[in-house]
Amino acid sequence: MFKKVKGFRDIFGDDIRYWHLIEDSFKKLFPTFGYEEIKLPILEKTELFVRGIGDTTDIVEKEMFTFKDRDGSYLSLRPEGTASVVRAFIENKLYEPPAIRKYYYYGPMFRRERPQKGRFRQFYQIGIEAFGSESPLLDAEIIFLLYKFLNDFDLKDFLRMEINSIGCPECRPKYRDKLIQYFKNNYEDLCEDCKRRLEKNPLRILDCKVESCKVIVKDAPIILDNLCDVCDNHFRKLKSYLNQFGVEYNVNPYIVRGLDYYVRTAFEMVTDKLGASSAVGAGGRYDGLIKELGGPDIPGIGFAIGVDRLVELIKMKNELKKDEVDIYIITFEEFTEVGINISNELRDAGFKVNLGYDLGSIKSEMKKANRLNSRYVLIIGEDEISSGKFTLKDMNSGEQFKINRDEIIKFLQEN
Ligand code: HAM
Repeated sequence: MFKKVKGFRDIFGDDIRYWHLIEDSFKKLFPTFGYEEIKLPILEKTELFVRGIGDTTDIVEKEMFTFKDRDGSYLSLRPEGTASVVRAFIENKLYEPPAIRKYYYYGPMFRRERPQKGRFRQFYQIGIEAFGSESPLLDAEIIFLLYKFLNDFDLKDFLRMEINSIGCPECRPKYRDKLIQYFKNNYEDLCEDCKRRLEKNPLRILDCKVESCKVIVKDAPIILDNLCDVCDNHFRKLKSYLNQFGVEYNVNPYIVRGLDYYVRTAFEMVTDKLGASSAVGAGGRYDGLIKELGGPDIPGIGFAIGVDRLVELIKMKNELKKDEVDIYIITFEEFTEVGINISNELRDAGFKVNLGYDLGSIKSEMKKANRLNSRYVLIIGEDEISSGKFTLKDMNSGEQFKINRDEIIKFLQEN
């Protein structure tokens, strides 16, 4: 017997209805904010992610599924979508003619993380990316879109919006030096991981979950006190616009994000309901990335939502109605054609129809219809054909009655 690969999973049955609910919802909402879909490859050259996400990030250092292709080049299953959208934006010259460009994408991402609640090696993201404006009004609109999309599932008491500014190449290096100095003074009390992070990626220490590190982090200098004027102004305006949009948020100076491309705005919609996997959606601004990957100097910002996590939250909150079949048709062998014709008419009218394929007794067919949650069963037998009146059974009330063939659709539409 074959088993699936660790950290990968099958999604089916009742769960699928939650996935459809989410899929229907973003496809309706995102275009109203001007986003159009972009479909991207799942496989990219490894170098794209190394350059895009950063070679000292956990994702690139240890989480990518990478293999050597026959021509000797290295390919990776995408661990996220931003680098791919930026690659597509540059490669297809989507920046011409200049305008604000907004894209959304949906699909599986792959990271070799330690599987746990809310954390998988294949997971799904819905993401958006907007190119062409540095205005904090765009940041605010994007944060509002994430906030609105998630709260529309009635999750307000499960979620918090947290925002931060992580500075820019002008102010962050100075802050970074201050931070390194501070942590050096407390070196002995840092965990082994943080000791390693100190030179390579000191900002990640702010994010460490180890208690002894958290104690040190509490008194560490914070980025918000060390922003340059441009970043400070940007962040002030962002907060003011967020108030105008009606977004409730907390400023959390310890948000650092696990990808290197961010500048200024960083945000996360977090929950306490999924153990250590707390972010349901997250993103930020990445103004230098398009240039870094070989394109023009155009600013960008976006976010991605973890669909697997969102499904878990919605399930905690609301139970969706079970899937049902509207009508289950039982026909006897000699009347199969009538059954086929009626099933076609009903499906054209939008009903969900199942035909009984392996006719046993009426009783066994009724059982099958029940297991499929059928609302009605239609019986087509000798009597029905000769009288032109079909037998319809309401599976909820158990009531059974005769109905003219040409009245079936109307009856189902009204009931
Ligand atoms: P990220 O924070 O790495 O950002 O991932 C975004 C979301 O994907 C997370 O908040 C989480 O809900 C979900 N996620 C990440 N890893 C896993 C996992 N192993 N299992 C389940 N869900 C997971 C990015 O990926 C950026 N590309 C977002 C972005 C877009 N920034 C700008 N534009």
